[in-house]
Amino acid sequence: MVQVLSRWLAIGLAAVIFLGGHAAQAVDSAKIIGGVTVSERRWPVQVSIQYGSPSSHFCGGTLLSADWVMTASHCFYNSRGQLVLRASDLTVVAGTDNNSDGSGQRRSVTRLITHPSYNPTLDDNDIALLQLSQSVTINNPVMLATPATDAAWAGTGQVVTATGWGNTNATGTANYPSRLQQVDLTVTSQSSCNMAYGGDITANMICAASPGKDTCQGDSGGPLFASNHAGGVIQVGITSFGIGCAEADYPGVYTRVSRYNDWVRSYVPAALLSTTLQSGWWYVADQPARGYSIEFRSGRLYFAGYLYDTDGSAVWYTSSGSMNSATTYAGTLQKFAGGQTLTGPYAAPVMVGTVGSIAITFTSDTTAVMSLNGQVANLVRYDIAAGGVAAGPASGMPETGWYWNAAEGGRGYFIEAQRDQIFFGGFMYRADGQPVWYYFSAQAVANAAGGVTIQSPLNLCAGGQPVSDAAHVPTCASTGQSVALVFTNPFTATLMLPDGRAISLARFTLY
Ligand code: ARG
Repeated sequence: MVQVLSRWLAIGLAAVIFLGGHAAQAVDSAKIIGGVTVSERRWPVQVSIQYGSPSSHFCGGTLLSADWVMTASHCFYNSRGQLVLRASDLTVVAGTDNNSDGSGQRRSVTRLITHPSYNPTLDDNDIALLQLSQSVTINNPVMLATPATDAAWAGTGQVVTATGWGNTNATGTANYPSRLQQVDLTVTSQSSCNMAYGGDITANMICAASPGKDTCQGDSGGPLFASNHAGGVIQVGITSFGIGCAEADYPGVYTRVSRYNDWVRSYVPAALLSTTLQSGWWYVADQPARGYSIEFRSGRLYFAGYLYDTDGSAVWYTSSGSMNSATTYAGTLQKFAGGQTLTGPYAAPVMVGTVGSIAITFTSDTTAVMSLNGQVANLVRYDIAAGGVAAGPASGMPETGWYWNAAEGGRGYFIEAQRDQIFFGGFMYRADGQPVWYYFSAQAVANAAGGVTIQSPLNLCAGGQPVSDAAHVPTCASTGQSVALVFTNPFTATLMLPDGRAISLARFTLY
């Protein structure tokens, strides 16, 4: 966990072949419709599955581990329902957002395992596994949705995200992008989807749609992610089929990943199952103006605490690493210093040391018992406004979690939306090198870039409770320095600083 944390803080730190063949499929190939180009390495678990020499992309997939890929069975069948591709025909390209410039890690495939009950007529059980000849380098594998995750984050009406290199033109000439695309969709009710497809939708499928948006030919085998509290890398679906692309009457249909946890793990025992623990702001009810930002991602926890130094000044400590079990985490609290101030030039911080220990036992998705240097307290999720935790984010809000600028490692930002109210935390340094945090809560308003903007003076607190001391009530006040975050999509923003500088922010996905 030490490396992971210090990495964040110290990093200055062609022709496409379509083999899919659902009986009802009106067009033979499609790509993501109405999406946006992914910011660099936003979805490191996505791979391109290629065929031929020179190879070209025909399906997507995701990394379950360094040498196993999950994809769709139909990718390897022809329209007459015959399995026509073998492992030796395939190349997997990992580690790149560009599927046609030769970048990334290319691997041959030693095993192709289609699902024994795959039904090529109905596309039921449309899931397959590929074993790579050699491991690829990944930070973290994808986490599989479970029935509990589906209930929490992929129920009817919830926002999910699909990614792929499929066709971006719903009508007319096919247009396959080199750069990975992503699109936000809404989960469709099982019954209305089943109605649309004349009763062909089984419990092994999950449908998603949004006006003018869809996956399309070439996206098959790629992921549908639960997108917000989930931290972005919980895979709930595998792109499977649809009638046309982005047709109002026909949702996209995805293989329901949660139905195959045991089947996947019979081949890949290390495949990660997701939990429903909530990423976001947490706090202790009787400890005013202390707060804890927690993101869960790929079996890891990434924590920072808003605390106070013995002189009462606001200070933050971090902790990160693998969860010890589905519901427990233990690690050290680390303090950094000497990094970049709000408006100063870049300075790489140094880790000044371990200032204590933290252990958290999650007792539900929204409650936990935290021991901070032996001081035990009950953590609960923080309502930004009344009922906010229960309500969750409105559609189009920024993803919950950590943001940064990769060229300015050591300074980080944590953002959570509940409805359209956003709570922002900035983790940086004072001129004397001490770590300091700022915060604000503001309503998001739609902007001209098609995203949302939040704007507010930064607030700073002082006089609060040091790590191993009794409660002190801090005072919080505006610094008089305003910032704005202008989001262009749910995971990329420009941070406008009080001195007029603009800093690009992206989601922090290195861990
Ligand atoms: N079967 C297609 C493929 O092979 C994916 C289609 C997804 N279609 C949709 N309308 N969502 O790439």
